Amino acid sequence: MSTMEYAENPFLIRGFLKDEWFCDRETETEKLLSNILNGVDTTLISPRKYGKTGLIFHLFHRVEVEKRPFKCIYVDLFHTRSLEDFVKTLADELIKFPQQTSFGQRVLDFIKRLRPVFSYDSLTGDPQVSFTYQMESEKEQNLKNILEFLNNQPEQIILALDEFQQVVDYPENMEAILRAYIQNLHNIHFIFSGSRQSMMAEIFLSPKRPLFSQTQQLSLDKIPAEKYMPFVKELFRDGEMEIEDDVLQFIMDWTRRHTYYTQSLCNKVYSKHLSRVDIETVKLACSELLDENENSYMQYRELLTAPQWQVLIALAKEKQVEQITSSVFLQKYNISGTTARRTVQSLIDKDLVLALPNKSQTAYQVYDVFFMHWLAREY
Ligand SMILES: Nc1ncnc2c1ncn2[C@@H]1O[C@H](COP(=O)(O)OP(=O)(O)O)[C@@H](O)[C@H]1O
Ligand SMILES: [Mg+2]
Repeated sequence: MSTMEYAENPFLIRGFLKDEWFCDRETETEKLLSNILNGVDTTLISPRKYGKTGLIFHLFHRVEVEKRPFKCIYVDLFHTRSLEDFVKTLADELIKFPQQTSFGQRVLDFIKRLRPVFSYDSLTGDPQVSFTYQMESEKEQNLKNILEFLNNQPEQIILALDEFQQVVDYPENMEAILRAYIQNLHNIHFIFSGSRQSMMAEIFLSPKRPLFSQTQQLSLDKIPAEKYMPFVKELFRDGEMEIEDDVLQFIMDWTRRHTYYTQSLCNKVYSKHLSRVDIETVKLACSELLDENENSYMQYRELLTAPQWQVLIALAKEKQVEQITSSVFLQKYNISGTTARRTVQSLIDKDLVLALPNKSQTAYQVYDVFFMHWLAREY
């Protein structure tokens, strides 16, 4: 193995690079592809950091490798606050297509007709556009024009709108605006992806909402242990590191197999380049991760009320709680029964607590796995 390869850590903690470093998601990728081929739009839902964005890029990569006649567009709506931001973010993605290609040239010619101001991102150097509007109605008109332009291309379009739950906070009724167009856009295949499960479900599964029953829902679960464990073992082996099964099992348990946390711990352990990975090495890596994040955890404390903090500590110590209003739980942690439910709900709204509904009841956990371990360690 060359030193170049040795320097590369295969455990990514953001994005997607290559198939060998991407675990499983076979059926999910197939499902997305089959929906696209059958003209069905998809809603992709999971808790944060399970791997939705990674899956979208894995799909795009697959489309490219198989030379399928699609143009793939990824739009991250996380920082958008309005229809205007939406249009700008979409246009910024479009002008990233290389101008040397026929599609890229057509996109640029089209965007120019919308009379934007071009600039360059001072950090990334990416070209950017901004539009000035005289009237509110021009924003929607721009969106309509862009979507119609895409719909009229000879290539079919896959348009992934990531963090789609953001549109709920726009001043405009984005769901209604999109619904009005989507039905006529047969050349565009939408993937709506989002993390706020209750909100995404509300948008797409509530009969009262404009986008109700417009899409097929795909829920992303954790990567199964039977797939994840051999994957991790193999990548360590490729880096000439041996890892015992019980050590591997510890990693899976400690990180709850929550993709981002599992990847982060593996990344940390891998960076040590030991020929044999033992349990002590892994535990040391765990505490290093907690120490690195300590400052941000302490900041949470400043931002939360005393009851919120108390409930977080209780959930962290219990790892998972089903009956949050049971007297046993409340008494053990000295939590007031009258406010427990409201406090938990406020923590869910802040994405600090994850509510996992199953058939009979809902389980509550501290959302951030490392934060949970840190709380349990410190209190
Ligand atoms: N199937 C996978 N195999 C390996 N790493 C993955 C996989 N899916 C996601 N990841 C990694 O896990 C982390 C979280 O994934 P991400 O796609 O950002 O989650 P989400 O979009 O659901 O919040 C990222 O670092 C990503 O590189
Ligand atoms: Mg994401």
